[in-house]
Parts: sequence; structure tokens; C-alpha cells
Amino acid sequence: MTEAVAAGIKQDMGVKISPSLLSADFGRLAEETRAMEAAGADTVHVDVMDGRFVPNITIGPLVVRAIRKATKLPLGVHLMIVEPEAYVAAFAEAGADTLYVHVEACVHLHRNLQQIRSLGKRVGVALNPHTPVEAIRWVLPDVESVLVMTVNPGFGGQKFIESTLPKIRELKAEIERQGLEVEIAVDGGIDPTTAPRVVAAGATNLIAGSAVFGAADYAQAIKALRGAAD
Ligand code: DX5
Ligand code: ZN
Repeated sequence: MTEAVAAGIKQDMGVKISPSLLSADFGRLAEETRAMEAAGADTVHVDVMDGRFVPNITIGPLVVRAIRKATKLPLGVHLMIVEPEAYVAAFAEAGADTLYVHVEACVHLHRNLQQIRSLGKRVGVALNPHTPVEAIRWVLPDVESVLVMTVNPGFGGQKFIESTLPKIRELKAEIERQGLEVEIAVDGGIDPTTAPRVVAAGATNLIAGSAVFGAADYAQAIKALRGAAD
């Protein structure tokens, strides 16, 4: 095995750091996205909100396309929207790599996940803080990533909700029980204090907005999260 291949495997097995652009300067989105790549991010997280599923409105496929042009990093597109089936194709086309739909927004979750699969994208499912692991038990074999909301979706800079920790542990146990390799992403209130706790519970992808963009030195902030996670 070459050193580069070994390094690639090591990278794959480590915890990923995914800055959330929600806390970026929206007047300089391309520049902020490029800065994340330069600062050592593993993926870039994009929050799509519709003012219905969550009480906030953010961005659509046109802006995702612009972000896509600014980086080679994988884009995780988090759809906090009702009836996501009407828009997944547009976001796939715009350059998303992983598409997350919320359990609570999908009447036919299994069908919606198959739709993402048919578009050739990584399949992601997201859970609000109150939604039990049981809600996704029977679709776990159909997804690459489960996003556990560790705050209520809608805004950056909120306080981490403690009751999500046992839920992450339960999710990890269920993934192991089914013999699967599914990523556990956590989103909301992730900083160097909460990072080691969510990783100990089973998280493998840390999504962080204010902890990265609120820092003067982005590379240092990502390094601090990675250090805390190890
Ligand atoms: C919240 C979004 C998050 C948000 C996290 O609805 O899904 O991705 O950007 O922000 P922080 O890390 O500041 O809690
Ligand atoms: Zn998000």
C-alpha cells in the first residue's frame, strides 16, 4: 500500500469536520467557501431553509451552484424544507454530493431516499432533536449518512441539546446491530467542548457553523475541533 493510499484510508476513518456556511458572510460566499478548503475542511455544509419547515429562509439551487464552483470539497446539502421530493433533483443538478431530507418532512421517506439514490447522490436522512432513532430503523440500510440535529433546526449559534447524546449512542448501537457502515453527522452547537462528547457517543462527521466562522483564524478553529474530536 502506498503512503498516499494509506493516508486516504486514515482520512476516511477519522472524524470529518464540515463547516456550515450558514454562519459565513453571505456577501462573500465564494470566498468563504474557498477559505474553508484552504483551512482544511473535509466537506462543506449548506443549509437550505424554506420558511415553512423551519422559521427561516436561506438559499436555493442557484446559490448551491455558485458554491459548487468555488470548491472541490464534497457538498452536504441539508434540506430543511417541506416536500423535499419537489426539489432534490434541482439540488442534485446544482452540485450537491450528499442530500439530506428530514424524516419529519417526508410522508414517504423510503421513496424520497430512493429518489436521491436514483440521482446518483449520497443519501442522507436528518432527525430533529425530538425524533426517535426508531423513525429511521427500517431505512438505515438505504442511507450513507444520518444527521442528528443537536439543536432545533433554523438558526446558527444555538445551545447544544444534551438529550441528543444518548440518542447518538442508540443510533450507533442500531447501526452496529444491523452490521452497517453509516456515517453519523451531528449538527448544531458543536464546538471544542461538545465535539469530544458527540464523538465518544458515535458521531463521525462534525458540522459546525459559529465555531468555525466566528473565529478569526479558520484553520485554527478547524484544527481545534479536530484536536478535540481525537
Ligand atoms: C441549523 C443548521 C446548522 C447550523 C449550525 O439549522 O442546520 O447547520 O449552521 O450552526 P452552529 O454550529 O452555529 O450551531
Ligand atoms: Zn445543517
